[in-house]
Amino acid sequence: MSGLEVGGLRAGYGAVRVLHGVDLVAGEREVVVVLGPNGAGKTTLLRALSGLVAARGVVRVGGAPVLGLAPEEIARRGLGHVTEERGVFGPLTVEENLRVGAFARAWPRRGIDDDLARVFTYFPVLQAHLRQPAGTLSGGEQGMLAIGRALMGRPRVLLLDEPSRGLSPGLTDRLFQTLGVIAGREGATVVVAEQNARAAALVADRVHTLDGGRLAA
Ligand SMILES: Nc1ncnc2c1ncn2[C@@H]1O[C@H](COP(=O)(O)OP(=O)(O)OP(=O)(O)O)[C@@H](O)[C@H]1O
Ligand SMILES: [Mg+2]
Repeated sequence: MSGLEVGGLRAGYGAVRVLHGVDLVAGEREVVVVLGPNGAGKTTLLRALSGLVAARGVVRVGGAPVLGLAPEEIARRGLGHVTEERGVFGPLTVEENLRVGAFARAWPRRGIDDDLARVFTYFPVLQAHLRQPAGTLSGGEQGMLAIGRALMGRPRVLLLDEPSRGLSPGLTDRLFQTLGVIAGREGATVVVAEQNARAAALVADRVHTLDGGRLAA
């Protein structure tokens, strides 16, 4: 069964049409990259999938239709979204931010410590800064925390909006390698919106280009 199926997805803002019929199928353990320049609609696509922008068409997560549901309900059905802004809670510690992420899942109280331990294997730096307010982390560390927090929701499908933003080329490469490991170990579908074609090519099973509001292979 596919992790994510998208068919004929249309979305925009008022009279401004941005997506004109996006089709995408991505399986479990796959990393799919959506490339496109500024303004192509990458963020709009991810926001439409997670219910933050009104859209028409079909979106299935693990086979179940989710389009039209409230964002928090879509999250509970297994869609994790790391936004462009990261959105970590600055005054809360790293550990508190990660624990908040567990509320997105079906059984919020079970297995949290095991999941924390797994997140630390992906991002050891988070364990080293466990009691630090998230707002005092470096930009790159905040990006890792945002991904870690999304993983605490045990997503079937993980959406990442330009995770390379603000990272050095070396750190970007390492992050993409980690995303490949995450897709394999978590059995998740990872969809990354990026401008950085070079880094994306490192781990992507497939690369699509968002052009004129549609996806091309
Ligand atoms: N709230 C909004 N109201 C009106 N237009 C919007 C809104 N948000 C985005 N747009 C427009 O939609 C288009 C797509 O924007 P989007 O943010 O999806 O692009 P992007 O591919 O993520 O770009 P970037 O690489 O700069 O993040 C742009 O032309 C943008 O100006
Ligand atoms: Mg964007």
